[in-house]
Amino acid sequence: MDEHLPVLLDDVLALLAVRPSGFYVDGTLGMGGHSSAILAAGGRLLASDRDAFALARARERIASAHPGASVELHHAPFSQLPALLDGRRPDGILLDLGVSSPQLDRPERGFSFRADGPVDLRMDPSSGEPASAWLDRVPEAELVRVLFEYGEERHARRVARAILAARPLRGTLHLAEVVAGVVPRDGRIHPATRTFQALRIVINDELGELDRALESLPGCLAPGGRLVVISFHSLEDRRVKDRFRDLAGFDAPRDLFGSPIVEPAYRLVERRARKGESDPNPRARSARLRALERLP
Ligand SMILES: C[S@@+](CC[C@H](N)C(=O)[O-])C[C@H]1O[C@@H](n2cnc3c(N)ncnc32)[C@H](O)[C@@H]1O
Repeated sequence: MDEHLPVLLDDVLALLAVRPSGFYVDGTLGMGGHSSAILAAGGRLLASDRDAFALARARERIASAHPGASVELHHAPFSQLPALLDGRRPDGILLDLGVSSPQLDRPERGFSFRADGPVDLRMDPSSGEPASAWLDRVPEAELVRVLFEYGEERHARRVARAILAARPLRGTLHLAEVVAGVVPRDGRIHPATRTFQALRIVINDELGELDRALESLPGCLAPGGRLVVISFHSLEDRRVKDRFRDLAGFDAPRDLFGSPIVEPAYRLVERRARKGESDPNPRARSARLRALERLP
């Protein structure tokens, strides 16, 4: 994430249809780019991030840019938003998935294969275990599955064997070197990219978090409210697409005339995902944005 360029900002604001005094939720506060824009449009905000460092930075930025605005910030994973909302019904909820560039760029967080740091990869270093501890105890078959499913790494078997043989890992550069030793370079991306993605997803339970949020958040919306999700790889986008289509009654039983037997409570705002290819933020290139509306 570029601090100054929140991904797909105009689309997000248009889809959330932010209005003065409306109530909005940002479950992935990050550096507060989208949240700031919601506040600038006059919305009231509840925002959360599981990264305490991001939260502290965003708190400062928001306090100086929007003094006196109605803001509530929480250190929490977005699966806990229903509990934080405690019955309040937002007019819009945003999830801008994945990691932020401050997380990627700070070697001490352990996300980087270009600068050395501990093999950690937790968005919230105060909970769960670092990737190094997980790698110390993971059976080979499970590591192969994670690399193959979450990293879409075709050489998962080779990579898993090499990583396990190289333990204890000295740091992210050592891990990247071990992977690069067994994965042919294909020219475009660093050979360890897929391994780091897979580890990040499993260490932060990213897909479990997303599934829980997709299960519970639509029911929290006010009538007419919208859930907007930006995802960055097909594992996420497929989940968002399937859940949204399900809620909008795409596969619901129909009567003889083709009408759904039970009227769906939601609709897709658009049938297709909006893409971020023309967004000025390079991180948006692989972005997919989808929105679901709770019907009045
Ligand atoms: C791409 S950044 C968000 C950028 C933000 N929209 C902005 O404009 O500044 C993603 C943020 O979401 C947080 N995050 C990712 N998964 C999360 C989860 N399950 N619960 C809470 N925060 C999460 C990360 O810690 C990171 O700070």
